[in-house]
Parts: sequence; structure tokens; C-alpha cells
Amino acid sequence: METKRIWPMSNQHIFRLGILGSGKGSNAAAIADACAAGTIPARVAIVLSDVENAGILAQARERGIPARYIAPGKFRTKLDEPAEAAFLEALRAAEVDLVVLAGFMRILKGELLQAFAQKVVNIHPALLPAFPGLESWKQALDWGAKLTGVTVHFVDQGIDTGAIIAQEPVPILPGDTAESLHGRIQEVERKIYPAVVGAFARSEVSVQGRQTILTKPLNYQQERAPAVS
Ligand code: GRF
Repeated sequence: METKRIWPMSNQHIFRLGILGSGKGSNAAAIADACAAGTIPARVAIVLSDVENAGILAQARERGIPARYIAPGKFRTKLDEPAEAAFLEALRAAEVDLVVLAGFMRILKGELLQAFAQKVVNIHPALLPAFPGLESWKQALDWGAKLTGVTVHFVDQGIDTGAIIAQEPVPILPGDTAESLHGRIQEVERKIYPAVVGAFARSEVSVQGRQTILTKPLNYQQERAPAVS
């Protein structure tokens, strides 16, 4: 099977990110700050949210990044067709190279995924394919798992089913609560997501079917806690 490098960027082009989120925006802030610090050779061109008062919009505006609320339409868990078209139009107008989902709570079904084929990524708070869906840290805790983690993956039409780009384990410690575990998972997210976005911006990501190849090791430091038995 042919290996495709999908993001060959010329030296002049500044890699442009479109970030979509529904929540507080800690991942978006980490990515924007890494861009501003020059750790990621990219610019956040636009931040979009389906929630009018979402923290992610405030995080963007504080940093001088264009930020827009777009009404999600008539469904609860997905964008309706006009809404998805409006998100797509905003991403195109911002000339986005990579769409970064960071706590975006709606399923993308249609045109947007086709228009940005293999250019939409997401972060999930578990080691997929374990614990897809909502509140994965609670699922892992309730299951009695000893290990969970973080996955960055491509987005396809399923729920958390796209090809895996990077993963990092997080041990579940005795006495962990949903909050303490989620907190440690989010700390890892704020390291791994900027590192993966940086790899895209430097054109260090290739795909072959479901296999994603990073041509250089991800550039972040993770202190590993000892395994728990
Ligand atoms: C993250 O925990 C991510 O794993 C999940 O949604 C959360 C978003 O958090 N998909 P934030 O809005 O980036 O703080």
C-alpha cells in the first residue's frame, strides 16, 4: 500500500489551524500558546464553537484569535446540515490546513469530513478502542481498569473510531476519583496534543490505511508514573 504524506508544506506557507470546541478550551489554549511560543510552526486561524458562552471562545479572544459561535441547529448530538455547512464555510474562509477538535461535543457526519479528508483530528481521554464515547475516565474507573490514557486520532464518521495517531498511558491510582483521574488525563492532553499538531505542521505525519507513521518522535516530555497492579 502506498504511504501518503498529506501535508507537504512549502517553506513560505504558515500552517493554519481551525479549532472546534464546546467546553472550557484548555487544549485549544495549550495549542495556541505553543504556536505563539514558536514550538508549533503554525497559527490558529480560527476558533469555532457550538456553545455561545463556551470558555474556548474566551480563551481565543484573550489571545487575539478570531472566534465565532455558530448555532448547531436542531439536533442534540450532531450538527444539522445548514450548521455543518456554516462551520465548513468558516473553516474554508480562514484557509485552514488542519481541523483540530478539542472537546467538540457534536458528531460530524457530512460535507465537512469530506472537504477536509484526513485533515480532521480529535483528542480522546482514554486509550482507544477502550472506552469510546462520553466521560471515558469515569468508564475506566468504573470498569476497574489499572491503566487508561489519551488518544489523538483522525476523525471519521464513527464515534472515536478513526485511525490512531498517538497515545499516552495514564495509570489509575488507588484512591483516584473521577476528578483526580480526569485532571491527570487533561495534563497529558495538554502536552500530547500540541506535539501532534506540531508534527502535522512540520509535515511529519504519513498514513497507510489505518497505520499512521510519525517520521520523528513526538516532541514532548512525559513523566511516567510507575505501573499499578
Ligand atoms: C478533553 O478532556 C478531551 O479529551 C475531550 O474533551 C475535553 C476538552 O477539554 N474530548 P478542554 O475544553 O480542551 O479543556
